[in-house]
Formats: sequence, structure tokens, C-alpha cells
Amino acid sequence: MIEHPTASARQLQDVVAAGFSRGVIPSLAHYRTPEQSAAWRAVATSFFDRAPGRSAFDDVYTEIAENGPGTPVHVIALGCGDGSKEEALVRNLCLAGLDVAITLADISPSLLQLAGARQEAIENVRVLTSIACDVTTVGGSLADLIEYLPGRRVITMFGVLPGLTTMSAFESVASLMRDGDLFAFSGNMLPDGAGEIERLCDFYATGSAHDWMALVFSGAGIDTESLSWSVAPAYASEVFAVATVSVKAEVLRDCVANVGDHAIQLEAGQTIDTFRSHRHSSESLTNLTESLGMKLICLRLSDSGEEGVVLARK
Ligand SMILES: C[S@@+](CC[C@H](N)C(=O)[O-])C[C@H]1O[C@@H](n2cnc3c(N)ncnc32)[C@H](O)[C@@H]1O
Repeated sequence: MIEHPTASARQLQDVVAAGFSRGVIPSLAHYRTPEQSAAWRAVATSFFDRAPGRSAFDDVYTEIAENGPGTPVHVIALGCGDGSKEEALVRNLCLAGLDVAITLADISPSLLQLAGARQEAIENVRVLTSIACDVTTVGGSLADLIEYLPGRRVITMFGVLPGLTTMSAFESVASLMRDGDLFAFSGNMLPDGAGEIERLCDFYATGSAHDWMALVFSGAGIDTESLSWSVAPAYASEVFAVATVSVKAEVLRDCVANVGDHAIQLEAGQTIDTFRSHRHSSESLTNLTESLGMKLICLRLSDSGEEGVVLARK
């Protein structure tokens, strides 16, 4: 596994400490430790129980195979997590008779290891480098770490957009794409209907989702009795979102967040923007794709109405 400087322990401590100081925890802070990775996987698994039905991802895997990536095809998975989505994609491409290689990138070494093991278990797939990096700051230097292969690249970035506060991750994507390459990414959707955003807020306010988000505080030595949580809709325009489920923690008594060598004083009454799940519509995902200068091939929605997956071509 290659560790890019943006993912060094020191750098991540600086980024997370700056997040506590500014009162905005970056998304990457929720996946760093093995404990957080395991807790996030529990949340991801619980999604299948509350949102049964056909998944948009399956449709897009088929579309990718049918959109002539040619052979060989190089999948580059950004924010791959445990790699379960790319595993399904790669199996689909192999079934279509394509020769497949894959490169994995994520901020979390423990998730990268899981993702690597999943791909290794697939017959006839070349698993290339795994790269620990911050996709929001790595920029064009990511391209230097990625092996050149002839044929098409398929860049994936699933589940990352909902947590972003800027568009900078798309600069890394742009630096990897050559003319004709494919880009598949997913957004969390705001399902149609009254009361949907409140229903989503309830999901993040309790249970496994809440336990997972609290780990960023316990990891910094702050017990959850020192916090009061609120989950509410917000209507920020970040990353083309139409709405955001915004999770905030109010600090109830003065305390100190310890992150590596950093000790950040938090004061009673201060609010920490802990987590965000940006929500999109078909129109906002289409606008985002066009803003990247890419041609939309398809946009598929899961039966749940909560997942939207875009396939685009450079
Ligand atoms: C919601 S999970 C999605 C994982 C997987 N792609 C999926 O769809 O199941 C978000 C993933 O993005 C990674 N991530 C979040 N912010 C990141 C960043 N700035 N740089 C690299 N990876 C990041 C996390 O470690 C996590 O694996």
C-alpha cells in the first residue's frame, strides 16, 4: 500500500484538529480507525434493511460493461471503502469477457485492506496499487501514482459526494481521465414526498448511525455525555446539493479534544458540525456532471429513491 503524504498520520491529525478548531469535522475523520471502519460498515449494512429493492448500482455496472470500455479496462476506485461495490462491478466486467485491472484509493488503510482482499478473491483480476490518500487534497499528484495501462479507465467514486464540503475531489478525478474514459459516481438522493427529509434525519439521530458519528468525539477523549446532538435539514448549496441532513453536536461543558499532539479547547455552547449527508435530485446530479465537462450517459435511481448513480464519459 502506498501512503500519499495527504494520508500520513501527522497530516490527518492536523486536518482533524483543524476541523475541531473550525467547528466543522471533515468527512474523512469518520473512517480513520478500524473501530470507525467497522461501525461505518454496520451503518452501510443497515441501509439494505431499510431500503430494499433494486439497486441503481447494479444497473450502472451493466451499463458500464455495455458502454464499450474495451479490453483491458482499468477500474480506479476513489473512496472505495470496503470495495464491495467495485467487487460487483469487476465481476460484471469479467462476465462480459473483459480483461480487468483495479487500483484502489481511500483515506482509511483498514478499509483499503478489506477492499484489496475482496478484489484478490476474484479470479483473473489484476489488483494494482492500493493508495491511501485524501481525494480532496491529493489533486493531480494522484495520477503519478497510478500505473499506465492501455485501454479505457473507469473511475468510480461511490458514496463520497454526500460528505464533501467542496468540489476539490473532482480535480483528482479530472486528472485521471483521458478522452473516452468513464466516470461513475453516486449521490444520496432526497426522495420525493412530504416528510422524507425528516425521516432521513431520524435515521442519523439514532442507532448505528449515531454510534458511528459519536466515535470521532470519543476518539478525541470527549465522552458523549458532554454533548447534545441535533439532526436537522439544511439547504446549503455545496456540491450542487438540494438539501443536506446536517448533524451537529453542541458542547455542554468546557472540554478538550485531543488529536495527536493537538489539544483543542472546546467551550460550552459551541456547536460542532459533525456530519453531513448532502442530498441530490436527478437535476442536481445532471448539473454537477455537466459542470465537470462530461457527457452524461445515464442516471439510475434505486427503488428506495435514496441512491442515484451517474455514468458519464469524458
Ligand atoms: C460512505 S463511504 C462509501 C464507501 C464505498 N465507496 C461504498 O460506496 O460503499 C465513504 C468512503 O470515502 C472515504 N473517504 C471519505 N473522505 C475521503 C477523502 N477525503 N479521501 C479519501 N477517501 C475518503 C471513506 O474512508 C469511505 O471509505
